[in-house]
Amino acid sequence: LDAPADPFEVATAAAADIARLTGVDRHDIAVTLGSGWGKAAELIGETVAEIPATEVTGFSKPALAGHVGTIRSLRTEGGKAVLVIGARTHYYEGHGVRRVVHSVRTAAAAGAKTMVLTNGAGGIKEHWAPGQPVLISDHLNLTADSPLEGATFIDLTDLYSRRLRDLAREIDPSLDEGVYCQFRGPHYETPAEVQMAKAMGGHIVGMSTALEAIAARQAGMEVLGFSLITNLAAGISPDPLSHEEVIDAGRQAEPVISDLLARVIGRL
Ligand code: 6GU
Repeated sequence: LDAPADPFEVATAAAADIARLTGVDRHDIAVTLGSGWGKAAELIGETVAEIPATEVTGFSKPALAGHVGTIRSLRTEGGKAVLVIGARTHYYEGHGVRRVVHSVRTAAAAGAKTMVLTNGAGGIKEHWAPGQPVLISDHLNLTADSPLEGATFIDLTDLYSRRLRDLAREIDPSLDEGVYCQFRGPHYETPAEVQMAKAMGGHIVGMSTALEAIAARQAGMEVLGFSLITNLAAGISPDPLSHEEVIDAGRQAEPVISDLLARVIGRL
């Protein structure tokens, strides 16, 4: 059997593609835009280059409407180079965890020291309102998978950097935070599963981010995580969930979360 490609070599090749296609050799910060966050890049900085993710080694076509398949290089007012990844591969697509964390490893290979992960997710705290952004304070990885292979025993204390959470709260002191539970999806959880997540200490339910955060820590990056609460989780809300509701909440929250993200990144 042929040995599979080394994921870090593939990421290095992807970073070389990005450097060649954008003309920007190194990036300082990387941001993954989850559902609802697609327009948030516009205020972060001036667009230096925008490329289809499909032209970069290892990136696949976006699976879903509302998930943007572009990679952008932006320059902030303060002169930092920001790599904006609008092409997330979800675990539920079934291509394996290497594909899920490829963008994070690519960002690290491109030089990024800070990884900002954003997503649209369901809220377990009853008082949260759809359209509200919250900070991720920690996670429960319920995928039963890991991006680490072999005997890679890394510490995940303060995975979601306390320093960066404090910095975000300097910009918006009203930001609440919670523990993010990554479920496999693509179905939403049953009310019983939401109660399980709550009993285990979870506050946010979603289908991304935790595996990516682990890969970012492995790569030595500092992680900041934001969830846009697009809806209350099943059983918390009296209403059934719909994908349209999720997309809609994102659209409505756009101006507020765009401004928040741009101001936080401006301070990194
Ligand atoms: Cl309720 N669950 C999950 N897993 N992902 C979501 C969600 C709920 N709402 C938006 N994304």
